[in-house]
Formats: sequence, structure tokens, C-alpha cells
Amino acid sequence: MEIQMNDITLHYEETGNGIPIVMIHGFPLNRKIWQPQLQNLTDSARMLAVDLRGFGESPSTSGPSTMDLYAKDIAEMLDRLDIIAPVLVGLSMGGYVALSFYRRYARWLSGLILVSTRASADSKETKESRDRMVNIVKEPEGIKSITNIMLPKMLSPKSYIEKPELVSLVKEIMETSSVDGISGALMGMKDRSDSTEILTGFNIPTLIIHGSDDQLVPLAEAESMAKAIPNSKFQVIPNAGHLPNMEQPDQFNNIMSTFLKDL
Ligand code: MLT
Repeated sequence: MEIQMNDITLHYEETGNGIPIVMIHGFPLNRKIWQPQLQNLTDSARMLAVDLRGFGESPSTSGPSTMDLYAKDIAEMLDRLDIIAPVLVGLSMGGYVALSFYRRYARWLSGLILVSTRASADSKETKESRDRMVNIVKEPEGIKSITNIMLPKMLSPKSYIEKPELVSLVKEIMETSSVDGISGALMGMKDRSDSTEILTGFNIPTLIIHGSDDQLVPLAEAESMAKAIPNSKFQVIPNAGHLPNMEQPDQFNNIMSTFLKDL
């Protein structure tokens, strides 16, 4: 499915009926990461998984894709689809987008699910590494190089051994990203605001989910968000890395269903 917006057409997939859930993927991924949820949580929820601009089937635009720009895209999409009071689910970079959305449009939301993400901004070292990656992706075979850098960090050690088909799927998803999509996201993540200070003022139901073996975002980041956000729920999924919704889909879906039932 696609939706024509002011300056771009966004592609998304929709399943199920019930409370609207909008799912935002991480970097350098696309909406396909949410297949285990799109297929299995349809009884109680209307699930929408979107390709952020520059990823999956959504075209890229030049220049930085700031987290605020992605958040504005989601807001415009909700408006055009007449979606009221959704739950936003953001994984990693998708979590940065969800936090930016919360800053601007908190009153629109009925809940937030933050997966494998952090509230802090980039450190100086991370900003430097983003710049290096922007240069790498522009080289010939740049997307393959980014995939080679990121793929070994995406999953838990157990998933690499026991789930070769998942490793291939994640590789395929990464390799279909575009150069402009990747560099725009890197520049946007580098300049994102620190959201740590807003956490204590959160006033919507919030669930934080993290894989025990996440190599990209340390578990401590999720623990400190859980401590700061009033009444938040926090679940650690064992034997999962940065993509717990794909690595341990049954556990992930049970956690999500319980949260949705309690809303
Ligand atoms: C992601 O998975 O979205 C990225 O690892 C986030 C980041 O690089 O900060």
C-alpha cells in the first residue's frame, strides 16, 4: 500500500483490526522486519508497518533525514489515514523517531513501545563513526560494505548459529537500502536531540523491550529509560540481540499483546 504525502509517497503494509499500532523500523532496515508481528497480532490490533523515506519501497530524498522529519512523515500519514490514538512502536532508529514524535504530538498517542533503543544523543565518537559510514556508503559497493559492518552486530550469538535463514533475511533487507536513504539517516541520527530529560515527564503507557544480547544498544540504555519513565513496563528478552521481534517473535508478541490488552 502507498500513501501520497506533501512531498513524498510512503509505502506501508497493514493487517488486522482493532487498536492502531504503527511500527517504525531501525537502520538500515525496512518494514519487512515486522513480518512476525504483522502476521500474528492481527486479532486485537490494526498493525501498520511503514517504510521510512529512503528505505524499503519509499523513495529517498537528498540531505539529512532528521528524526523530526521522519516523525512529521508519520504524523502526516496518520492524519491522511484518519488514524486516531495509535500506539507507536519504534525499534532502535525507529525509537529515536518515536521519541521525536512524542516531543511534538504526545497527546495523539495512546501508548509507546520502545524496542532496542536509547534516549541519549550520539557521543562524539559515534558522530565521527556516522561520518565515516556516510563516506563508505558512497563508495562503489558501499551498501555491501555497510551491510558487512552492521550484520555481525544485529543478532544474538545464538541466532547466528541457530537461525541462518533469519541472518540471510536481515542481510537481504539491508542490501536493498539505498545510498541516499542510508546517508540521510546517518546524518539525521547524528544530529538528533537528547531525549533523556523528557522521560520523567512521560504521561502515556510505555513499554520498553530489549534483547539480553544487544550489541548495538547496551541493555543499560534501556534500563535507564525504564527507571526514568513513570510507570513504564520493562521486558528483557533472553537470547535476542538487536532484533528481538524477529529473533524471539513468540515472546515478543506475547509481551506486546499483554501490554495492548492492559491499555
Ligand atoms: C538502528 O538499528 O536503528 C541503529 O543501530 C541505531 C543507531 O545506529 O544508533
